[in-house]
Amino acid sequence: MKIAVSGKGGVGKTTLTSLLAYAYTAQGNKVLAIDADPSPCLGDALGFPRELVQGLTPIADMHELIHERTGAQPGTFGGIFKMNPRVDDIPDKYSATHRGIKLLELGAVKLGGSGCICAESVLLKQLVSVILLQRNEVVLMDMYAGVEHLGRATSDMVDALLIVAEPTARSLGTAAQIKQLAQDIKLQTLFLVGSKVQTQADRDFIAAHSPGLPVLGYISADPAVLAADRARVCAYDLSPTLVAETNAIVTALKQSVK
Ligand SMILES: Nc1ncnc2c1ncn2[C@@H]1O[C@H](COP(=O)(O)OP(=O)(O)OP(=O)(O)O)[C@@H](O)[C@H]1O
Ligand SMILES: [Mg+2]
Repeated sequence: MKIAVSGKGGVGKTTLTSLLAYAYTAQGNKVLAIDADPSPCLGDALGFPRELVQGLTPIADMHELIHERTGAQPGTFGGIFKMNPRVDDIPDKYSATHRGIKLLELGAVKLGGSGCICAESVLLKQLVSVILLQRNEVVLMDMYAGVEHLGRATSDMVDALLIVAEPTARSLGTAAQIKQLAQDIKLQTLFLVGSKVQTQADRDFIAAHSPGLPVLGYISADPAVLAADRARVCAYDLSPTLVAETNAIVTALKQSVK
């Protein structure tokens, strides 16, 4: 299962990704969690020990590696470099593992379709392709607000894009924009996940204003998320409610994605 998570800033993408990671490992799966946020924080949401997170360097910042693999200096444009650099060893070599979850940070790079061809974007695109094509773990990608890391070439390999939305008109508006971007690159299987819901009225609002996407499930606004942040653990460990809601999402995914 390869799952990408997107949505407006601050809606709860990283929190949902971390919950899903533990839900899948609890069911006996290996998980590869990809942090595609330019300021990575998935490791903290996963409750990774501080020294493990501090030991990670986002791939986009590994200038030596990018140079070695592509033959070009990062940040330079034009020139000659390998369009298919070797990347298959990167997920195992440059990740950190904690409680069965492997975490890889991609870092900041412009990957838009606007003709940006630089060494680091070539490397990262190749890396995402190889992860989607070759890894046999459950892959969870925390995408920040967009689908920039996914191209048309790999969109077939994403089993589900989860678009996270709070019960607000704005976050549902952003969900509609992301849906459009996703359809532009032929991502087929899109779902909405309601986040930080407090009441049945919140759930109803999200369902009623979904941009034509099926609602896979809901995650409650839960004080455990704040408590987990302060205690440097994952919210999954503190809240049976969040565990049950996440398991319901995993079950719904299994039923909806062949
Ligand atoms: N289910 C929840 N209950 C309570 N608070 C939550 C919940 N989910 C997220 N939050 C809070 O909302 C804030 C944003 O959460 P999170 O980092 O998961 O969102 P994000 O969409 O990944 O944000 P960004 O766009 O900055 O990456 C955090 O302060 C987090 O503690
Ligand atoms: Mg985030």
